[in-house]
Amino acid sequence: MAEEIWIAVDSYLTGLFIGCEGALDGALSDSAAAGLPAINVTPPQGKLLHLLAKMLDAKRVLELGTLGGYSTIWLARALPAGGRLVTVECDPKHAAVAKKNFERAGLIDKIDLRIGKAIEVLPQLAAEGAGPFDLVFIDADKPSTVDYFQWALKLTRPGSVIVVDNVIRDGKVIDATSPDPSVQGIRRFNDLLAKEQRVSATAIQTVGSKGYDGFAIARVNSER
Ligand code: SAH
Ligand code: DHB
Ligand code: MG
Repeated sequence: MAEEIWIAVDSYLTGLFIGCEGALDGALSDSAAAGLPAINVTPPQGKLLHLLAKMLDAKRVLELGTLGGYSTIWLARALPAGGRLVTVECDPKHAAVAKKNFERAGLIDKIDLRIGKAIEVLPQLAAEGAGPFDLVFIDADKPSTVDYFQWALKLTRPGSVIVVDNVIRDGKVIDATSPDPSVQGIRRFNDLLAKEQRVSATAIQTVGSKGYDGFAIARVNSER
């Protein structure tokens, strides 16, 4: 559970920079009503993803792990006319909630929701020539993060940005002996990210209404 002060500051920041917004708030309340886990990004983090997409002038975005579509809506709203976002979700119940949330947000034309395991959908996207994506947000099952990152490298171009959620996990990431497969998956990913010559990367710790966690951010290098 997040510390009280982190929650209070997150509401303060949300009140300042985001406020109440129908389709985003509705996505969260309908997700909760449908019994989805409340593991979406926070409002300030959602806006950060939105701003990153804007800064990159992103026209194609790929997301792994849709849940109820909260982060998806933030990202899709950054797209210009004709922009496209592909989001991948393996749980049909989550995908059904997300689809309704995209409809209410008026984003159905911009979002291509693929129901399936990311590891199966990614080669399909490559075969379709769906890339290159300007921005990739990896937020699905943590043990597979290395595989998803390798696919993200195939589906991007020099200058693209890859963001990976949940790379700190209450600081558990520094426990090399952790029996948690998510922690071990993220540790393998961080090791690979640090060594990968094709990107320049860092990771940032965060606190907020979803506790203590963090994200990694990588830019695909110009010379590959
Ligand atoms: N990005 C969302 C949160 C995603 S939670 C947000 O911030 O709003 C992680 C999601 O990944 C869950 O909905 C889960 O069902 C999905 N998931 C887990 N394993 C997956 C897999 N192998 N392939 C695709 N989706 C997966
Ligand atoms: C979990 C997954 C997430 O993507 C997240 O942001 C927080 C928690 C989880 O699986 O517990
Ligand atoms: Mg996450």
